[in-house]
Amino acid sequence: MSSAPSATIDDAVAALRRGELLAIPTETVYGLAADARNAQAVAKIFALKGRPADHPLIVHIADARQLAEWAIDIPDSAYVLAQAFWPGPLTLILRKQPGVLDAVTGGQDTVGLRCPDNASTLALLRAFGGGLAAPSANRFGRISPTSAEHVRAEFGGNTPLVLDGGVCSVGIESTIIDLSRSPPRILRHGHIRTEQLLPMVPDLQSGQTGGSPRVSGSLEAHYAPRTPMRLVSREQIEADTGAGNVVLALAELPAGREGLALPGEADAYAHGLYAALRRLDAMQAHCILLEQPPQSPAWLAVNDRIGRACTGSGTPDAQNV
Ligand code: TXA
Ligand code: MG
Repeated sequence: MSSAPSATIDDAVAALRRGELLAIPTETVYGLAADARNAQAVAKIFALKGRPADHPLIVHIADARQLAEWAIDIPDSAYVLAQAFWPGPLTLILRKQPGVLDAVTGGQDTVGLRCPDNASTLALLRAFGGGLAAPSANRFGRISPTSAEHVRAEFGGNTPLVLDGGVCSVGIESTIIDLSRSPPRILRHGHIRTEQLLPMVPDLQSGQTGGSPRVSGSLEAHYAPRTPMRLVSREQIEADTGAGNVVLALAELPAGREGLALPGEADAYAHGLYAALRRLDAMQAHCILLEQPPQSPAWLAVNDRIGRACTGSGTPDAQNV
């Protein structure tokens, strides 16, 4: 593992201005950031992540006043949502300004924008002045990082400068809402729930359609450990006799089982989910048995992530693209 140093805000701004990558903390997960106006810097994100070039990146901005630098035809609902939820885990997809790099938008006519709720990164964004293109700071298809240590574990000796903002408070990626078309649609579920958005966007639709834009978080295999992982009931865990299986239990680890338990409340579970998956993956078990959480609306984003993590699990990196 690399012992990459933690950056100060001044170091971080200087690295961005030199066209280098920088790992940034956000309230959701750590991002792998570059100056969103610098095509060569943005290309380094795709190279380090191993991400397909046509997958668009979110541009992180300091506040809603910067929306018009990146987007056109901005509906009033964008400002209403930004006022209610920014800084925070909500990404708005809007029609892009003509000058926004194709590398950032994946060649689409829309751009994703969000103002993250992390004090270090907000200070960085204000000092830098521009936008930061940043996907989650993990290798493509793998588990998103929720601490600076995770970022270093992910990229080893190739780890860029890291702005260490501690452990991410939310722990799963932002909710993405597409406001570029009518009716607006949720493209990725997250900490901010549909019920919270509906009062401001009454015609909001949920779920993907065939013609929807590319969202790598919508691939069936994503967020995945290398160890095979299966969604199972509590009864199946109790009946399991498989030697070498580890358990990710809800609320309490069954007596005598090896593994971890996450809280039985959705936000607290989400906060610990990725760190738990990393720890379980490191145990090099035969299989991770993940106890199925409730199916209620509060668990939608968690169930989305763990479903994809199970689908993508058990594959070496190269096969998970
Ligand atoms: O919480 C988050 O959103 C984190 C932190 C770092 O901000 N970022 C994140 O980035 O999850 P990433 O690249 O791992 O996922 C962002 C998703 C991708 O699936 C991408 O396809 C989608 O946002 N996206 C970005 N721009 C888009 C656009 N113009 N249209 C549709 N989807 C877009
Ligand atoms: Mg990601």
